[in-house]
Amino acid sequence: MMTVLDVLEERIGAAMAAVVGTNECAAIVRPATDARFGDYQANGVMALAKQIKTNPRRLAEQVVERLDVADLCEPPEIAGPGFINLRLKPDYVAGQLLRINTDDSERLGIDPTAKAKNTVVDFSSPNIAKEMHVGHLRSTIIGDAICRALEFLGHPVIRQNHIGDWGTQFGRVILGLWHMCMAEKHGEPLYYRTELDELRRIAGSDQDLRTLCTRIRDRHEDDWSNDREGEQHFAPFLEGLNDRDVEGLWEQFLCVYQYVNALEDALAGMGLTVRTINRGREETIPYESLSRRITVMLQRQDRQEFDAWQFIRRLTLEHCGGIYRKLGVQLTDADVRGESFYNDKLPTVVGDLQASGLAVESDGATCVFPEGFKTKEGQPLPFIIRKSDGAFLYATTDLAALRYRVNELQADRIVYVTDARQIQHFQMLFAVADMAGWDRRDGEKVELAHVTFGSVLGEDARPLKTRSGENIKLKDLLDEAVERAKSVVEEKNPDLPPERKAEIAKAVGIGAVKYADYSNNRTSDYVFSFDKMLAMDGNTAPYMQYAYARIKSIERKAESKGVHIEDELHGIAALDLSEPTELDLGKHLARYGEAIESAAADYRPNYLTAYLYELAQKFSAFYTNCPVLDAPVAKRPTRLLLCDLTARTIRHGLSELLGIGVVDQM
Ligand code: ARG
Repeated sequence: MMTVLDVLEERIGAAMAAVVGTNECAAIVRPATDARFGDYQANGVMALAKQIKTNPRRLAEQVVERLDVADLCEPPEIAGPGFINLRLKPDYVAGQLLRINTDDSERLGIDPTAKAKNTVVDFSSPNIAKEMHVGHLRSTIIGDAICRALEFLGHPVIRQNHIGDWGTQFGRVILGLWHMCMAEKHGEPLYYRTELDELRRIAGSDQDLRTLCTRIRDRHEDDWSNDREGEQHFAPFLEGLNDRDVEGLWEQFLCVYQYVNALEDALAGMGLTVRTINRGREETIPYESLSRRITVMLQRQDRQEFDAWQFIRRLTLEHCGGIYRKLGVQLTDADVRGESFYNDKLPTVVGDLQASGLAVESDGATCVFPEGFKTKEGQPLPFIIRKSDGAFLYATTDLAALRYRVNELQADRIVYVTDARQIQHFQMLFAVADMAGWDRRDGEKVELAHVTFGSVLGEDARPLKTRSGENIKLKDLLDEAVERAKSVVEEKNPDLPPERKAEIAKAVGIGAVKYADYSNNRTSDYVFSFDKMLAMDGNTAPYMQYAYARIKSIERKAESKGVHIEDELHGIAALDLSEPTELDLGKHLARYGEAIESAAADYRPNYLTAYLYELAQKFSAFYTNCPVLDAPVAKRPTRLLLCDLTARTIRHGLSELLGIGVVDQM
């Protein structure tokens, strides 16, 4: 079943083709912007008139003469230079609502698409050993909404969490973990915390810094030399992970990582050396190059380093999993396909591009120069796929991932969700894929889309940070939202039992953060404000959740008065939409599918929130004008149906498509 908009597009298109004998111009039907002129407007006639050099108004008249939409619309009207305005008939709207009512598939009368596309969605994609930041929050929830909408419309969706789990920084990470193990072994579980504080405190004084770093180095060497060959430091950690407090370990680990970073910065240029054991051989190297050594060990997959890396990866994923669950995001471990996964495919990427002559050497690095990309100086801009030291890059991995998705995952379409700062990277990636022909399967072009978003700003209009200037931890942000939502609940409904209150606060708090993000046009920046997102009026989660709860309470009241809604709606055969607010609400309800389609087509969740907000407003207007429980018996089924469909639509939109909880009572 097509949406009304699709039907009109087709019929008007056919009429246009019949008039001029060809069908090259689309009808371009859009929802009308002003309800006084109707519900839809077609403006394709003007372009057609221009093309065949005829008077547009006259052409519009001819099209309307041929147009058969009497089953859906009142007689079409022509306006301005040649717009065709269309107004749905109340009977048609009633028929649509009855059809939705009898659809017991939970799809609200919306059929899956006939043109399903295998869609890979690359989203969330945090970096291992780092705290997820608000940018990852946006990618995570926008990506999740895109997946849900596409899936609902019938597209097979493959979620890919392209985590940053490979690269040169892992030496530092592993060194950090090693410090953590040693501290535990020495029975001083947090010594690095003390030393980090000390490092920071004496940052200005070279002499003190030298003393401290030498002390750390000496202990380091002691630990190395006491280290029995083949002792497994990290394996026990890894095995014990399930029994441990993930968040506690995570906090500890982040601190130890900061410690190693601070230590390495402090060591730079100090000339300290350290004795280490590398594959059983003792050697003395500059202290600050230790972590680079460890990176090499990891890359050749030495047992210890590999165990350590796995542990950190697991720990990060457990931590992220906690955030996904909190957010109600449908991402699991099975969706993780990180950078490391493509490791062994990188040499082939470079080799193939070299063989086809697309990759060339430039200043020792291997690069592709896609057409149209220039540096600030006007020089051709390289897409670097291998550095002069032989290391592969983010770009190389993305090329390997693209090939994998096209060839192995059989993608017809790949959607990447990242912040707008990566626009150029993806433009170049797509250009290189096109040059290499890697974005085609069986001769068909695979659709590549980069879905970008702006920054989340603090009230000071600068990127959101804590008061002390650090990145906000997502977990803290969400916890605070739930905490604040508690007072909203407290105020609205102080008499609820505590566990109900907690449940509502969770739905409202998390919902508010998500909804605020969704309701903003994703390409612009927005200011993060707890007060605004938790407001009971305006386009917010609590407003929508309350609208839902209110209808539920009407329904409870009906039941308590002996009106059995299910019975009343079951055999309902005709509706009476004679009140303007009834018809208006009914029309909007019938357009839910259009809202989902447009949100999915442009990857814009704000189309959906805007639809839902309008729905709640139209419901309010209807409810103010039309008594439901005290309606004349003949009108009651129509009104109960309008209530019920509104509630079902809000619930579906919030919970199925946006992953935002609804509650029956607020
Ligand atoms: N890990 C990257 C970051 O945090 C995002 C990865 C996005 N996906 C991709 N295929 N490049 O910025």
